[in-house]
Amino acid sequence: MPSQTRASGAKDTVASLRARLNRLEREAATRERQLERYAADLREVFKQERTRAQELRRSYKATVLALANAVEARDAYTGRHAQRVAAYGLRIAQAAGIDVDPQTEFGFVLHDVGKVAVADAILFKPGPLTHEERELMQRHPVIGSDILDHVDFLDEAKDVVRHHHERWDGAGYPDRLAGEDIPVAARVFAVADTLDALTTDRPYRSAASWVQARTIIHEHSGSQFDPAIVTAFDTVPDDAFARIREGLG
Ligand SMILES: [Fe+2]
Repeated sequence: MPSQTRASGAKDTVASLRARLNRLEREAATRERQLERYAADLREVFKQERTRAQELRRSYKATVLALANAVEARDAYTGRHAQRVAAYGLRIAQAAGIDVDPQTEFGFVLHDVGKVAVADAILFKPGPLTHEERELMQRHPVIGSDILDHVDFLDEAKDVVRHHHERWDGAGYPDRLAGEDIPVAARVFAVADTLDALTTDRPYRSAASWVQARTIIHEHSGSQFDPAIVTAFDTVPDDAFARIREGLG
């Protein structure tokens, strides 16, 4: 082959390779732009989903609080007991290294929802309850967990609602569960509930101090309360509980 023809053939090959390279580069740039658009779309969808999930969580929380407030509205002297006791419960759980999911926190807030079914004459009786009245009163954890039945987002909450009056020694109600058979969130809650009851004014007695409340809780460690939870409770300073109480009024 003459050298002139060989040179022109090589030129053609270089030109076609360059053209192919240019085409590939254009295609790659188009694909990159497409991918960037997809990524931006995905980021936008993710942002919208996150906002929607936050709105949903806020609605759940508002619904749960409305329900708890409806129960408490009958019982003027406990004033925001549900929210306070939920916050105490979270603080004690944190000290015990126990993770409380939002559903369980709803259980803290709704623990006494079953009291809607307890007659005023029993709920507000100034004197001691008769055996029969006590039995009716003690049905509130079961009624409460029945009320929450079929509410999917409150599945975990039911454990606290049903078992918040069980005792570590098995002498509680409604299922007479003992020790670690009692769901841990209910064991935490039992301490928080008692702390709030003791440190709140009642028509028949004034509020105990934090020190007095701690002494009483200690006396019931190992019988009513899980000793490990009481130990964790001890590590939470009075100030932390006082701040919660002041914050919630
Ligand atoms: Fe209760």
